[in-house]
Amino acid sequence: MDKVLCSLLLLVTTVTMARACPKYCVCQNLSESLGTLCPSKGLLFVPPDIDRRTVELRLGGNYIIKVTQQDFANMTGLVDLTLSRNTISSIQPFSFIDLETLRSLHLDSNRLTEIGADDLRGLVNLQHLILNNNQLSHISREAFDDLMLTLEDLDLSYNNLRGVPWDSIRKMVNLHQLSLDHNLIDHISEGTFADLDKLARLDLTSNRLQKLPPDPIFARSQNSVVLTTPYAPQLSLSFGGNPLHCNCEVLWLRRLDREDDMETCASPPGLKGRYFWYVREDEFVCEPPLITQHTHKLLVLEGQTASLRCKAVGDPVPVIHWVAPDDRLIGNSSRATVYENGTLDILITTSKDYGIFTCIAANAAGESTASIELSIIQLPHLSNGTGRAAAQVPPLRHHQLHQDQQGGAQGSAREGGVGVGGDRRLRSGQVVGQQGHAEGEDVPAPVQLLRRRSAHIQVKSVAVRGS
Ligand SMILES: *[C@@H]1O[C@H](CO)[C@@H](O)[C@H](O)[C@H]1NC(C)=O
Ligand SMILES: *[C@@H]1O[C@H](CO)[C@@H](O)[C@H](O)[C@H]1NC(C)=O
Ligand SMILES: *[C@@H]1O[C@H](CO)[C@@H](O)[C@H](O)[C@H]1NC(C)=O
Ligand SMILES: *[C@@H]1O[C@H](CO)[C@@H](O)[C@H](O)[C@H]1NC(C)=O
Ligand SMILES: *[C@@H]1O[C@H](CO)[C@@H](O)[C@H](O)[C@H]1NC(C)=O
Repeated sequence: MDKVLCSLLLLVTTVTMARACPKYCVCQNLSESLGTLCPSKGLLFVPPDIDRRTVELRLGGNYIIKVTQQDFANMTGLVDLTLSRNTISSIQPFSFIDLETLRSLHLDSNRLTEIGADDLRGLVNLQHLILNNNQLSHISREAFDDLMLTLEDLDLSYNNLRGVPWDSIRKMVNLHQLSLDHNLIDHISEGTFADLDKLARLDLTSNRLQKLPPDPIFARSQNSVVLTTPYAPQLSLSFGGNPLHCNCEVLWLRRLDREDDMETCASPPGLKGRYFWYVREDEFVCEPPLITQHTHKLLVLEGQTASLRCKAVGDPVPVIHWVAPDDRLIGNSSRATVYENGTLDILITTSKDYGIFTCIAANAAGESTASIELSIIQLPHLSNGTGRAAAQVPPLRHHQLHQDQQGGAQGSAREGGVGVGGDRRLRSGQVVGQQGHAEGEDVPAPVQLLRRRSAHIQVKSVAVRGS
């Protein structure tokens, strides 16, 4: 009887244990917090029967291939989650949504290629996010939104990242460690680290950076650091293994009092291979911009695209800006595109676009300008040549111009304005006629000027206004 009772008891215990703890796992209830430990057990997925009250969950070294929404549902007390060294290649959005108390998430050494906007949603108390040794090439701009204020440790090293969500990083005011080493990062904007007062370690080793953005926090990486804010820690900064371009833009870095010996210059050719800290300050030079090629004069048929070119050399590579005849800086818009190669395209020119445009080539060493004269050959807006109706023709709207363009005469936008035939004139006139017009409407001065002209082929000569 005793024996039967005993085996019964044993059976009951085993059953209870089995329900509380997944097969192959070890479950510990230490100091009233449950730990579920399933490391290196050959698991192919997250066991579905994990006690939802678990506080620590270790699933490292298995063969888990993905994280799904059910895996960690209702684990509202989980603090520590380890998924390192699996073969995870995807995280279903909102998989961590219930983990509001999670402080540490280890996902290192997996096969993740990207982090989507909602993959880390809900991790509002996360302090440690470890994502090194994956194959990450993209992280959504919103991916860190829920955790950027609490994060203390972010490890993204050994991935394929060209960039990270810098706007989020900027706001990580509690960050202590940021590991971005061994990626493909080629640019960091100025001001990225400005508010990271607690940052004590920044690793940028082995990326594609040609320069670092000047930032006050780098002053904390010096040997004899005089701390301006008493609570800001010394910064351990590593940036060796980047192809540093040793010109005047990194002189500030050279002036820091540091003892690193790993960093070398990759360019300019004269400094290639030299140890950064052995290059003299007067060798870090920039070359002011020199405009080598630009459009001088351009004559364009109204409605066609005007392509104004400007090329400049210098060190660093100059940025080209364009200024309109009315002194406004031109940016990308529905009407204009400023390409990185310096070309300005005015997509559908109107009779008002004429004048002197200015190309400004600028870099850290100075700027240089060139003037480009744009003339617009105005389309005859009349149905006949008497000229008297001119004052009644409203300016063409863009869609009308488009119609005109399709009507032929492509390629007539060259010097001399050849090819504007009678057919074309008639067609324009018809379009305008259909559209109608309002008597006495407000029209800009250049258009008024144009209206006084004859209705024959009009070559609008350039008026140099203002400036
Ligand atoms: C852990 O043990 C405590 C008592 O020591 C108990 O109250 C609690 O329910 C146990 N937790 C779990 C998850 O089993
Ligand atoms: C989580 O809790 C909800 C509500 O209590 C329940 O319906 C659901 O089945 C639970 N999910 C899991 C995976 O335990
Ligand atoms: C303007 O648009 C072009 C083409 O889309 C792009 O290459 C360029 O970087 C843009 N310029 C600015 C200043 O945003
Ligand atoms: C500049 O780039 C644009 C867009 O890539 C291209 O259409 C244009 O021909 C280029 N201009 C020059 C001068 O290379
Ligand atoms: C030319 O314009 C005048 C005045 O608008 C008009 O009286 C005349 O009929 C037009 N001629 C033709 C051929 O359209």
